[in-house]
Amino acid sequence: MASTITCFSVAFFFIGIVHSWGTSSFDALTSEDPLTRKSVYRTPAFTLTPGEVSNKFYRVEFPKGHVGVRGFDAEVVDEAGNPVSLFEVYLHHWVTFNLYVKKTEKEAFLNEGYYGSNNPSTKFVENSGLCGDGSASGWGLGSETRHTNTTVPPPYAIEIGNSEKIPDGYEEMWEFNVHAIDTRGVEDRPGCTECRCNLYGVVNDERGRPLPKDYVGGLECCYDGTKCRLKAGFESTKRTLYMQYTIRWVEWSENVVPVKKYLIDVTNTGSGCKAEYNTPTCSLRGFPTDCIDTRETTASLPEDGILIYGAAHQHVGARGASLYGANGEEICRSMPTYGFGSETGNEAGYVVGMGACYPEPGSVKISSKDVLRMQSNYSTFRGRTGVMGIFAILVASDTSSMISFKSSNSLDSGYGIQVVLNDNLVIIVLFGGIAMFCLARYIRFRKEQSKGYQALST
Ligand SMILES: *[C@@H]1O[C@H](CO)[C@@H](O)[C@H](O)[C@H]1NC(C)=O
Ligand SMILES: *[C@@H]1O[C@H](CO)[C@@H](O)[C@H](O)[C@H]1NC(C)=O
Repeated sequence: MASTITCFSVAFFFIGIVHSWGTSSFDALTSEDPLTRKSVYRTPAFTLTPGEVSNKFYRVEFPKGHVGVRGFDAEVVDEAGNPVSLFEVYLHHWVTFNLYVKKTEKEAFLNEGYYGSNNPSTKFVENSGLCGDGSASGWGLGSETRHTNTTVPPPYAIEIGNSEKIPDGYEEMWEFNVHAIDTRGVEDRPGCTECRCNLYGVVNDERGRPLPKDYVGGLECCYDGTKCRLKAGFESTKRTLYMQYTIRWVEWSENVVPVKKYLIDVTNTGSGCKAEYNTPTCSLRGFPTDCIDTRETTASLPEDGILIYGAAHQHVGARGASLYGANGEEICRSMPTYGFGSETGNEAGYVVGMGACYPEPGSVKISSKDVLRMQSNYSTFRGRTGVMGIFAILVASDTSSMISFKSSNSLDSGYGIQVVLNDNLVIIVLFGGIAMFCLARYIRFRKEQSKGYQALST
């Protein structure tokens, strides 16, 4: 830890808080906005050997007090603070969980963490939906985390730490789930990142129950501690890694306008979301010009609002996702950015970013009566398992006196160069990762099941 802190403080101005459970942080004012502060933290360390999967939960630090979050960026770094390439450590997903913990049970919570939290002395803070019932997940992304714009434009922000919302006798706390796969020296890198069961030698799920015969790949096969097959004779050292996350935030005030977060998952069945789905291989008979699988779902918001931000999560093979309003017009589009190089942040063949849309505030009004349509497109030159199509949107209440609305709607493709690869040319085909909503529920469900806790009644 000490050497980590030293490296950290050399790289940045360090205000030096080392927390009891091993998170380090420093705060600084950002240059772009005098009111926006920036806090950089790390999760406790995790280790990986070649082929190994780490899927753990950590208690982590967040800005204290009543604040509005304006950005949340994260990446995997090594002990020296250097970003780690997706070629070596594939970040399947990271997700945050916000919960209220009974002050009298705090010590137990700190000792037992997530598992201990599945009891009546904790309450998950749910996001606003829309997969049937609530979910505990807050922020989360996968391999695209480095180049997905998470900025919430002023005056908007995501509210946290409002003492009026925290039940008496409880304290707000945060957990971070990181699912990472060490792909150094593996026999089949795309296969390992797609969690193909045969490569992991997994036939039973994490609880020891046999998986269905037709379950060939997905999260059930790459749980914590599993190992993907290595090339014969490959050896390398154990690595120590961290998730480093940067939160941009402002002190809450009446000038800050809260936004609600909704997640629209294309796998929504009406009674829940599956998070993962499979795409077929297209038939090349008839010389199709586009081999695209389009999935669609519909959703309605529980209340009226204006769209402030939207970005989708998809995996390799992604061809973008769109949200359509009540009149069928496209109100937000999110396109993948594929890496095309060898350097970290531009790893060839990986989805290294997802574009975000920023409609002019007020230009896209959504009524609770509207039926929104969401589409998730994938290339089908190759069939895939365990892909995802989840659209995260931020919506502010429609208080039309607040801002002078403009009628234009700008679609912003977000970060960087848009490289649409012909899928046949993508040699390294990888399985992206996020667990924003349904996956988070799934994880929570699994942890509850595996530990025999009762489901939370919320
Ligand atoms: C993210 O989006 C905001 C709002 O449109 C923009 O001001 C900012 O420059 C973007 N950041 C990056 C890194 O593209
Ligand atoms: C997705 O595919 C459909 C056709 O199946 C197309 O109409 C739509 O524009 C595509 N969306 C994106 C974001 O490319």
